[in-house]
Amino acid sequence: MTDDSSPLSDSTPPPEWKQKVHGRKRGFITPREKIWLDETLPAFRPPAASSREEMLALLGADPTKARLVLEIGFGNGQFLAPLAAQHPEDRFIGVEVFQEGMAALIRRLQKDQTTNTRIHPDDARVFLREGIPTHALDWVIINFPDPWPKKRHHKRRIVQTELLDLLVERMVPQGLLTLATDWEEYALWMAEVLEAHAGFENLAAPERFAPRPDFWQQTRFETKGVDAGRTIHHLAWRRR
Ligand SMILES: C[S@@+](CC[C@H](N)C(=O)[O-])C[C@H]1O[C@@H](n2cnc3c(N)ncnc32)[C@H](O)[C@@H]1O
Repeated sequence: MTDDSSPLSDSTPPPEWKQKVHGRKRGFITPREKIWLDETLPAFRPPAASSREEMLALLGADPTKARLVLEIGFGNGQFLAPLAAQHPEDRFIGVEVFQEGMAALIRRLQKDQTTNTRIHPDDARVFLREGIPTHALDWVIINFPDPWPKKRHHKRRIVQTELLDLLVERMVPQGLLTLATDWEEYALWMAEVLEAHAGFENLAAPERFAPRPDFWQQTRFETKGVDAGRTIHHLAWRRR
């Protein structure tokens, strides 16, 4: 393992990342389901790898053809499961802290017999730092991240300069970063953070926001936002 490819080669994480992940962790999960989840989840964990090629090879894919795709905060997997089923040639990793969501995604993957998706049950920022090799991700998806609308909670938002710094290290050059939110003020926040970062360019330029993408799958969070009269903002950026 070279220094360049080591997922552990970073310096100490910034202090704000020592904060815990806020929000729901468990949801409506019975003790029996919890036992099932604890027994089932290990088979879905992504492998440890020191390079993109090794990660894809361990996932049974051809590194010259497959994309390695990461969804941060997949919720119930309503976006990830159909996307993965439509792209059996690619490999997907979903990261989530919400146990009910993990269980829902596993059930859906099993029902659809989708075998190209792995799940990491923890803070995506820690997983990016410790579990993803350098320059490994072809596409990173962040859909409807918790908006934390109160100003004093903005520091809890996942889209921050520190996250983009990490994504620049973990994504391949020209890798795709797509984001969506139904919270206009968070959409503006995302655009500002991205525009201020030298590592990404806006694929929608000269527009600030992108049209609804072809690959789109509507989730419950989107439906809730639309039902409440909110507009969905899409962002499509590329790692330089
Ligand atoms: C508003 S929900 C959206 C879920 C899903 N993306 C969708 O569109 O339906 C945000 C999700 O992000 C998850 N989340 C928040 N912070 C996270 C973190 N640091 N790492 C992984 N998941 C996180 C939450 O548990 C929650 O399920």
